[in-house]
Amino acid sequence: MIEDLKAARRAAGCSQRTLAEKIGTDAQAIKRLEMGVGSVATIVAVMEVLDFRLTGLPPGTTLAEQLRAGRKRKFLSLEQAAARSGLSRATISGLERGGGTVASLLRLLPVVAPRVRRRAPERSYWGKDNKVDRDSRFTPEDFMANIYAAFGEIDVDPCAHPSSPVIARHRIIPNEGGDGLIDEWMGRLAFVNPPYSALLIWLRRAHAQWMAGNIETVVCLVPVRTDSGWFHETLSADAEIYLLRGRVRFLNTRGQAQHTPFSLMLLALGASDEQKSRYAELVPGFWLSRT
Ligand SMILES: C[S@@+](CC[C@H](N)C(=O)[O-])C[C@H]1O[C@@H](n2cnc3c(N)ncnc32)[C@H](O)[C@@H]1O
Repeated sequence: MIEDLKAARRAAGCSQRTLAEKIGTDAQAIKRLEMGVGSVATIVAVMEVLDFRLTGLPPGTTLAEQLRAGRKRKFLSLEQAAARSGLSRATISGLERGGGTVASLLRLLPVVAPRVRRRAPERSYWGKDNKVDRDSRFTPEDFMANIYAAFGEIDVDPCAHPSSPVIARHRIIPNEGGDGLIDEWMGRLAFVNPPYSALLIWLRRAHAQWMAGNIETVVCLVPVRTDSGWFHETLSADAEIYLLRGRVRFLNTRGQAQHTPFSLMLLALGASDEQKSRYAELVPGFWLSRT
């Protein structure tokens, strides 16, 4: 589980420092966590940020509830679970109340949920290229022309690339010391075509920047992936969704064009009715209705 968590952080392009900032701790705590040392509260916060879910546990709204339900499902008393895990009763009670350490959690899990494992991460396949290559697909000029015409000039591209045709007043580029997951997005309009291997993390960031009032309107070009709880609980209430007809031909780092092998949507936060209808006049597709 710890190795999987580390892999999930790396796959999301998050450094230990970035992850630490997101949960309000220091990089040392993440480093220790990745060695199996730390509190359950820290690991739960990290799992939430990385959208790292577990399967093989009974239902419950918190991990603590799931641990307790797992023990009950196996008809184990606290004493029996203690004998099997080598933990004390008090430690198991603590874990079932949301406390405890990662080390004790890792000992209890095989006893109460032997089949626990990481849920397969969300994925939008581009093909067999390496991840950096897959994540570096650029929005073509003809697609962008409709974005400018409908929504106006772009103030910030928070996940930009020097070879991308996207025109923005401010481009946050990793190789130039920028980090769109940390730096603030400022201005009227942000256009976000994020690394799809870390889609949810970028959508959360977009939503947070918009909620904080840093940016008036955010337009994201993303695969149609609506399976996360967060999408249903939070994003669906705030975002306007435009389902695109057909596929977009993105450019790769070698300048070659390739159609997305999956469906795309425009996800807009804070867009006006006028912007939305201008876009619908230009691009085949439709805005999802809320009624
Ligand atoms: C799918 S490409 C899109 C590039 C550009 N926004 C476009 O639409 O053409 C995503 C880009 O995000 C950049 N990226 C990855 N992690 C980033 C980060 N933490 N901060 C800023 N940019 C990042 C990568 O350089 C990658 O080229």
